[in-house]
Amino acid sequence: MINLGIDIGGSATKGALVDTKTGLLVSERVRFETKPLEKPKVIINLIEKIRKELDYKGPIGAGYPGIVKSGIAFSAANVHKDFIHSNIAELIQNKTGQPTVVINDADAAGLAEMRFGVQDAKNYHVVMFLTVGTGIGSAIFVDGKMIPNTELGHLLVGKKEAEHYASDAARRADKLSWKSWGKRFTEVLQTYEFLLNPDLFILGGGLSARYDSYSKYLKNSTKTIPAKLENTAGIVGAAMAAHEAFSEPN
Ligand code: BGC
Repeated sequence: MINLGIDIGGSATKGALVDTKTGLLVSERVRFETKPLEKPKVIINLIEKIRKELDYKGPIGAGYPGIVKSGIAFSAANVHKDFIHSNIAELIQNKTGQPTVVINDADAAGLAEMRFGVQDAKNYHVVMFLTVGTGIGSAIFVDGKMIPNTELGHLLVGKKEAEHYASDAARRADKLSWKSWGKRFTEVLQTYEFLLNPDLFILGGGLSARYDSYSKYLKNSTKTIPAKLENTAGIVGAAMAAHEAFSEPN
């Protein structure tokens, strides 16, 4: 089954067609950069542009960087505040004419990683998947089943929210060496360990590709591994959500 997966981000909106049986992209990845805090209308227009460019009709899945319940956004940490309380699924559906489901972006990426990425992730009781980019996103899985809309990037670590302290954006803004960033991120992971005691951390987002640069500086005690799907995970997971929401049960 082929579905369109969309990844809405703070600096770009991306999409591709995904074979939801294999988790592989079956089209090019179409990517449009956006200004920070672009209004919802602009993003929705870009999604329609992506759909047209890929010549796609059918269910659409989109990952949004905030809390999403039944297609409605309830937070907007790194995107325009006008998203809050808007029904994003309906906005996309009205613009594209295609049935649409919207879930949190980290949840989407986590679902894809658990299914198609790290091979034995399902064998761990509690898995915490983290995306580290502009923000820090989280998805928690208990025996393979996800708790949606966890927002652990906003947990206070010391005096700052985790994502203001140790996201990739914070690393760049504070011009941190890998060692200094690793020290901060260790504190974040130790805080999560102390409160939630996961059995495995999977690190995704842009930083998963740089794992070798910083892994030696991570001193937390829980097993910690890089994600496999890198920057396609969000798109793949969004397409999986569309497949799950709209395909006929066998
Ligand atoms: C948002 C999360 C999102 C994460 C990664 C955070 O600021 O609150 O919902 O998953 O960024 O994009």
